[in-house]
Amino acid sequence: MDTDLTLRAQAFAAKDPFPMKGFGPVEWWVGNAFLTAQAFRALLGFQIVGYAGPETGLRDRSSYLLRADRIQFIVSGAQESDHEIADHVKVHGPGVRDVGFLVPDAVAAFEMAVDRGAEPHREAVVVENDRGRMVQATIKAYGDTVHSLIELEGEDPRFEPREDTVARSTGLYAIDHVVANVELGKMDEWVEFYDRVFAFTLLKHFDDDAISTEYTALMSKVVTGGDGVIKLPINEPAHGKKKSQIQEYLDFYVTPGVQHLALSTEDLVTSIADIHSRGIETIYVPHEYYPAARKRLSNIDIDWEIIERHSILVDQDDDGYLLQTFTKMMQDRPTVFFEFIERRGATGFGLGNFKALFESIEREQAKRGNL
Ligand code: FE2
Repeated sequence: MDTDLTLRAQAFAAKDPFPMKGFGPVEWWVGNAFLTAQAFRALLGFQIVGYAGPETGLRDRSSYLLRADRIQFIVSGAQESDHEIADHVKVHGPGVRDVGFLVPDAVAAFEMAVDRGAEPHREAVVVENDRGRMVQATIKAYGDTVHSLIELEGEDPRFEPREDTVARSTGLYAIDHVVANVELGKMDEWVEFYDRVFAFTLLKHFDDDAISTEYTALMSKVVTGGDGVIKLPINEPAHGKKKSQIQEYLDFYVTPGVQHLALSTEDLVTSIADIHSRGIETIYVPHEYYPAARKRLSNIDIDWEIIERHSILVDQDDDGYLLQTFTKMMQDRPTVFFEFIERRGATGFGLGNFKALFESIEREQAKRGNL
C-alpha cells in the first residue's frame, strides 16, 4: 500500500481489500432517453422513479432514474449536438456508459483505486439535498466505459422523484452479472486490472475449446468481488473458421464495452412469459437441445415442455442448477442485449449451454451477414 494514501483510505483498506456493497446504477447513454426509459418500463417492468433535465435545472441532458426492485438504471440523452453523450451515441450507438459500484466511502475508494493504477475519470463530487446525499467518483474501464464509485444515503438527490403507478413488474429484481467484450489478447489484462484495482478474484475460466462451435469461438474469464455480489465476465474473440460474435460486437460498438447485463428473477418461466407477451423476443433454442439437456439434467424437477416453449436454457453445477434465456439485440446495431437468469443454487454461468447458445447467436449473426 502506498504510504501517500490518506488515513481515511488506509482505514478503508484495512477492513477489506476493497469493500463493495453491490452494483450501483447502470447508466445508459442513448439517442432518446425518454423513449428508452419508456421501453424499459413497458417491456421489462422498470418503474420510472426520478427525472433530471432542463425542467429541473439540468440544462445539457435529460436523465431518467429507473428501478426494478434492487436494479437501478439511469437513461440519459443529450440536449445539445456537441455533447459527450451525443458523441458517445454517434460512435457506439446506444449503450452502457457507466457500470456503478456501491461503496461505503466513495472518496477513499477512489483514492485507493487510483493508487492501484486506475485512471481517474472524475474526482469525487458530493450532491446533497433534503432527499438524500450522494458522493460519486469515477474511474475509467474498458473502451469508453467507466465505473462510478457511489456512496448513497437516502434517495438519489440528483433526480426529482416521480411516482410510477403504471409500470407492472416482470419479476426482475437484481443485477446478477455484467459482461464486457474486449479485444483479442486483452482479456487477461482486464482480469489483472480488476484484481489489482478492486482485489477481485478469478472465478471461472472458459477457454476456446469450451466455448466454440463449428465456426466461431470466444474466451471468457469471470472476476468477482464484494463477497460475490459483483460478477464481471470478460470475453475476448478467439479464432474460428468464421468471425467470432465478440468480434462482430467490437466492429459495431467500435471499442470494447458492455455486451450483456444478466438480470435475476426468482421465477424465470413466469417472468419470460410476461416479457414475451410485452413484445421482447429471446433467442430461439432448437428442439434438439432439449432431449440432450433432459438426459444431462435428469435429476432436476422442472416442466420441460414449458421450458422448451419459452426457449429457456438449463444448466447444472456442483451447487445446483440455473435457468437462463437471452434477448435478441436491444438496438439496431448487434451490440447490447439482456440475459434473464434464475439461480436454483448454481453459481456458474451456464457453461453446458454455451455451445447451444452460441449456435443460436450465430444463426442471428448469419442473418445479418456478419458471420
Ligand atoms: Fe451471462
